[in-house]
Amino acid sequence: MATTRTRAKSNGKLAYTVPGLDPSDSAKVVAILQQRLNALNDLALTLKHVHWNVVGPNFIAVHTMLDPQVDGVRLMVDELAERIATLGASPCGTPGALVAARTWDDYRLVREDAIAHMGALDVVYQGIITDHRAAIEATDEPDPVTQDLLIKQSGELELYHWFVRAHIETPSGALVTSGSKTETAGAGRARVSR
Ligand SMILES: [Fe+2]
Repeated sequence: MATTRTRAKSNGKLAYTVPGLDPSDSAKVVAILQQRLNALNDLALTLKHVHWNVVGPNFIAVHTMLDPQVDGVRLMVDELAERIATLGASPCGTPGALVAARTWDDYRLVREDAIAHMGALDVVYQGIITDHRAAIEATDEPDPVTQDLLIKQSGELELYHWFVRAHIETPSGALVTSGSKTETAGAGRARVSR
């Protein structure tokens, strides 16, 4: 007999939170943290997907560059989830809930030239880092402790983004993917530049 599975949802009701933080502010911070958790869980999976699917002359450089990024992003996911729990809420890490809550498309490239993947990942990191910075702004007043965590993570994410961008940067300092709004466009411009 088929079993019915219900999708896990983050519990927004807080029975308690950290001392000195208003429970309604805490609930707002939890919602922000849950979206960052979803985004970085998605990023960790996407980076592994690229690690497996790069081909071409830059294979080994990109393949070996990505695993430390996966490890670093997974640690960030753990920090976000445990901050949610510390605030008295329940972090949600199931795949179904992630897909239901996300506002972005699945990564589209599969087996592809390493430089095309770098063009697509440039666009992915732009979205992640822009949203992390928005979360920094949004947590400034209610919870500087959460904001501090997001600031530290943003610094690491920006470093990883530079590693990606260095593959698609010209000697004059321009990005060959400049102006790309989608992963497909970024990949296309990076591919043509070679
Ligand atoms: Fe591997």
